[in-house]
Formats: sequence, structure tokens, C-alpha cells
Amino acid sequence: MASPLPSLAYCNESQVTIVGAGNVGSALAQRIAERDLANVVLFDIIPDRPQGLALDLTQARSHGRYSHRILGTNDYADTAQSDLLVITAGLARRPGMSREDLMATNGKIVAETVRQALVHSPHASIIVVTNPLDVMTYLAWKVSELPPQRVMGMAGMLDSARFQTFLALELGVPAGDVAALVVGSHDDRMVPLPRYSTVSGIPVTELLPPDRIQAAIDRTRQGGAEIVALLKQGGAFYGPAAAACAMVESIVLGQSRILPAAAYLDGQYGLADLYLGTPCQLGKGGVERVIELALTPAEQAELGRSAVAVKDNLNLALATLMS
Ligand code: NAI
Ligand code: 2OP
Repeated sequence: MASPLPSLAYCNESQVTIVGAGNVGSALAQRIAERDLANVVLFDIIPDRPQGLALDLTQARSHGRYSHRILGTNDYADTAQSDLLVITAGLARRPGMSREDLMATNGKIVAETVRQALVHSPHASIIVVTNPLDVMTYLAWKVSELPPQRVMGMAGMLDSARFQTFLALELGVPAGDVAALVVGSHDDRMVPLPRYSTVSGIPVTELLPPDRIQAAIDRTRQGGAEIVALLKQGGAFYGPAAAACAMVESIVLGQSRILPAAAYLDGQYGLADLYLGTPCQLGKGGVERVIELALTPAEQAELGRSAVAVKDNLNLALATLMS
């Protein structure tokens, strides 16, 4: 069905295509739209769904003054000349589905969507959201044949926001006063870093006893599962959308903020040829700088375990997709 909204082709503004108009994709479209950051194209394979969401979001904007537009489509041609592609297409793990099944299914979806979207937007950077995050980001980079700086994954922003929230709850302070950092993989081997987490500049290690910090770490590692268990169907989407939006904003507006993201490691931390969470500088060119933190031996060992798990899953995904 033809889109009910006019083409974006005339508009000389940044354009972000969100591939996958599910829970995360539609919440992200709303965030970008309400911050008036860029034109948004919402793509999905479900007929009419992205068109309906775009129309609803456009009507929601009639209460304010905005300069950007939202388009919903099932046709990649409508995504042409996007500056940024955010890949949220894919399944969450369902009962009876193995890790291998999920990796094979989402691997195929991510590979196909990246290939198709890049045909129409060859100059775009890519943010991957689909799980398993670190593996899917690597696959997206491989099929894209882009420089690694233009492909990254969203997870560190979400995991750090969860750590920030749980530390704030422990301390009874506003979450906005806490700056927390999580690196490593987006699974229960992620590495929350209390030494790099502060409240108004004070390290949390000076404000909380070790057992309360550990409680916040444990809850952060289970942050996604806790929400899945409560919702019963599907996973978190407001937090993931807010986290992805901060990355989109830094890139589209060229803010060059330092934010945690899954970036291609090329020797940092003694690790190479994988995507893993670390602080990065994100700007117009994508990942402008990968920041290698000075870690203690214990932190480095945790990061190493995180990397081994990602590499194992990556090898499994590559083998499954090749077979
Ligand atoms: P959802 O099921 O609500 O939405 C997924 C959407 O992808 C659906 O609308 C579906 O039609 C679409 N889709 C499937 N195949 C497609 C294709 N070939 N082309 C275009 N669209 C296609 O799922 P939700 O909650 O939005 O999550 C999406 C993904 O993001 C999942 O893999 C989930 O595990 C992951 N996720 C990752 C997070 C992170 O921190 N990296 C946080 C939250 C979710
Ligand atoms: C989350 O952490 C499931 O990756 C998703 O909420």
C-alpha cells in the first residue's frame, strides 16, 4: 500500500531509518520525533504497520511545532539517502527456541536488512539493536563491508542506565546525579565498573559498601530478564529506545559525546576482531574514537571472559549461517 504521507526526498535534513517497527523501533521513532532530531523512516515487513504507526506519531506531533517528518513503509526505496540505519528487526528468544535458533533466525534477518537498506543508503552509519547484540553487530559489519567506524551496537547505554538506576536506588539520590559505566558483552557476563561510576564526581566505592554495590551489579546483569519476567510477553523497550536515541542524537547532531557502545576492537584490551562494549566517541562519522580504559587485573579478567563468550557465540552464528 502506498504511504499516506508525502515523500521525504525534498527534505534536506538528516534522515534516520529504523528497520523493525516493533516495540523498540516504534518507541525509538517516538523519541526521535519528539526531540525533533531528524526525519524518521520506519520500515517493517508487516504490511501497513509502519504506515499506521507513522500516521499516529505524526498526529501526536500536531500538539507542538516540529520541523521533521515521519514516514512508514514496507519498501526499502522509501528509506533512500538515510544518514543512519538503526536495526531493531528480529525476534526475542521464545520458549522452546535455542540460542542457536535465535542466532540463526536473527542473523539472517540482520544480514538481509543491512544488505537491502545499504543499497539505498550507501553512505549511512549503522546502529544494531537486535540480539544477541555483540554477535549481530559483528554480522552487520561483515555483510555491510563498511569501515568498522560506521557500524556499532547499542547495549552499553542501556546496561549503564540500569546500573545508574540501581545505584541511585541504593543511595537514595536522583538517578541523574549518578554516572555509571558498564562495558563488555550484552549478557550476564557484562562488566559493570564501580571504579568508573560516580555520584556528583564521588566514586560510588566511597559511598556504598561492597555488598550493596554487588547487589546493584547483580540486578544490572539480570536487568533485561527482570523486565521480561514481569511483562511475560516481549522485553524492555522504553529503556532501549532512550538509550538508542542518545546515540542517534550524538551522531546526527555531531555532538561527539563519549558513550558506551559495542565497537569493533582491534587490539584494545588485548582483544581483536570482535564487537564488544566500551566507551566510544560518537559523532557524524560514527565511532570517532574507541576509548580503552585502564582496567585492574580483575576487571580485565572479567572483560576477557565476556569476550570469550561473544567469540564462541560468533563462531556458532557464523557456522550456523554458513551451513
Ligand atoms: P518486536 O517483536 O516488538 O519487533 C521486532 C520487529 O521486527 C517486528 O515488527 C517484526 O515484524 C520486524 N521484523 C522481523 N523481520 C524483519 C525483517 N526481515 N525486516 C524488517 N522487519 C522485520 O521486538 P522488540 O522488542 O522491538 O525487539 C527487537 C530486537 O531488539 C530483539 O532482537 C530484541 O531482543 C532486541 N533488543 C535488544 C536490546 C539491546 O539492548 N540491544 C534491548 C531490547 C531489545
Ligand atoms: C534487554 O536487555 C532483552 O536485550 C534486552 O532488555
